[in-house]
Amino acid sequence: MAFFTHQVCRSFSSSALRSVAIKHVVIIGGGQMGAGIAQVAATTGHQVTLVDTSDTILKKSVKGVEASLKRVVKKKYADKPEAGEAFIQKALQNISTSTDTASAVQSTDLVLEAIVENLQIKQDLFTGLDKVAPEHTIFASNTSSLPITDIASATTRLDRFGGLHFFNPVPMMKLVEVIGTSATSQETFDSLLNFGKALGKTTVSCKDTPGFIVNRLLIPYMMEAIRLHERGHGSKEDIDIAMKLGAGYPMGPFELMDYVGLDTVKFIMDGWSKMDPNNPIFAQSELLNKLAAEGKFGKKTGEGFYKSK
Ligand code: CAA
Ligand code: NAD
Repeated sequence: MAFFTHQVCRSFSSSALRSVAIKHVVIIGGGQMGAGIAQVAATTGHQVTLVDTSDTILKKSVKGVEASLKRVVKKKYADKPEAGEAFIQKALQNISTSTDTASAVQSTDLVLEAIVENLQIKQDLFTGLDKVAPEHTIFASNTSSLPITDIASATTRLDRFGGLHFFNPVPMMKLVEVIGTSATSQETFDSLLNFGKALGKTTVSCKDTPGFIVNRLLIPYMMEAIRLHERGHGSKEDIDIAMKLGAGYPMGPFELMDYVGLDTVKFIMDGWSKMDPNNPIFAQSELLNKLAAEGKFGKKTGEGFYKSK
C-alpha cells in the first residue's frame, strides 16, 4: 500500500558539515499558523518577515500577534507591566510584513511556508522561490499531512529542504516535529532542529511519512469522533465532554477540529483518502464535507461544528 511504503529513510552522508544558525526567517502565510510562528520567532530574537497575499490580511495577522502577546505578558509579566510592554514592543519590532514574496526572500536564512494545505499550490510557491532565494537558504514546510518529498520535488534544493511542523496555538504548544527526507542533508536537518530549539520548543525527529507522528494519530481520532456521531452513538457535546473528562484532553475532538479549521481537516482527509482509498481510517465523512462546503470552517469563520464564542 502506497500509504505505508512512503519515504521512510534518510541518509546522513554529509554529517561532517556544520548546521547554519538561522537568524532571519521569512514566513509565507499569515494565517493561524504563520502568525503564531512569526510571534514565537520574534519573541526569541529572530528577524521575521511575514508574507501574505494582501496588506489587509497582514494587518489582521499582526493584530492577532499583538493580542496573543498581550495574553502571554498578562501571565509572564503579571507584576512587571513595563517589562511586559517592552517585551511586546521588542517582539513587534522584529516582525516586518510584505506581499512581495520574491523580494522578501532576497537575503534570508530560512523560508518557512504555512499556506493552504494543497500540494500544487505549495509546489508552485516553492518553484518560484527556488529561483530567487540565495543558495544557502533552507526551505521548510509546516504542512500537516503532505509528503515533504513531494513539496521539495518542485525545487532544485532537495538537500536544503525539510519539514518544521508546529502546533496550534503555536505560542502555547511546546512541540515541533522536524522532518527530513532521504535527500535532506544532515546540515539542514540540524539547522532546523536547532531553530526549533531556539524558539523554545521541544523537537522530535520524524520520518517523511503522512501525518508524521502527531497527525497520524490525531486526525484518525478526530475522524472517528465524527463517525461515532454520524452513527448516532453520541452527541458532539457528549463526545467532547467524554474525551475531556474521561481521557484528560484539553479540548474535545469537535472543539479541536473547530480550532484547527475544518477546511484544513478536510484538505488532509481528501489527500489521504486519495492516497489510500480503501483504508477505512481515511474514509470521507458526509458531515465534514457538508460543513466545509458551507464555509463553516470553525473558529476562523465563526462557525464549524459549534458557533464560536
Ligand atoms: N496566545 C497566547 N496565550 C494563549 C493563547 C494564545 N493563542 N491561547 C491560550 N493562551 C494562554 C493564555 O494565558 C490564556 O489565558 P487568558 O485567556 O487569560 O489569556 C490561557 O492560555 C488559558 O487559555 P484558555 O482559557 O483559552 O483555555 P485553555 O486553558 O484550555 O488553553 C489551549 C487553551 C492551550 C488551546 C488548550 O485548550 C489546548 O491545549 N488545546 C488543545 C490544542 C491542541 O491539541 N493543538 C494541536 C492541534 S493539531 C495541530 O496543530 C496540528 C495540525 O497539523 C492540524
Ligand atoms: P490559514 O487558512 O489560517 O492561513 C493560511 C494563510 O496563507 C492565509 O492567510 C492565506 O491568505 C495565505 N496564503 C495562501 N496562499 C498563499 C500564497 N501563495 N502566498 C502567500 N500567502 C498565501 O491556515 P493555517 O491553519 O495557518 O494552516 C497553514 C498551514 O499549516 C497548512 O499547511 C496547514 O495544514 C498547516 N497546519 C495547520 C495547523 C492548524 O491547526 N490549523 C496546525 C499545523 C499545521
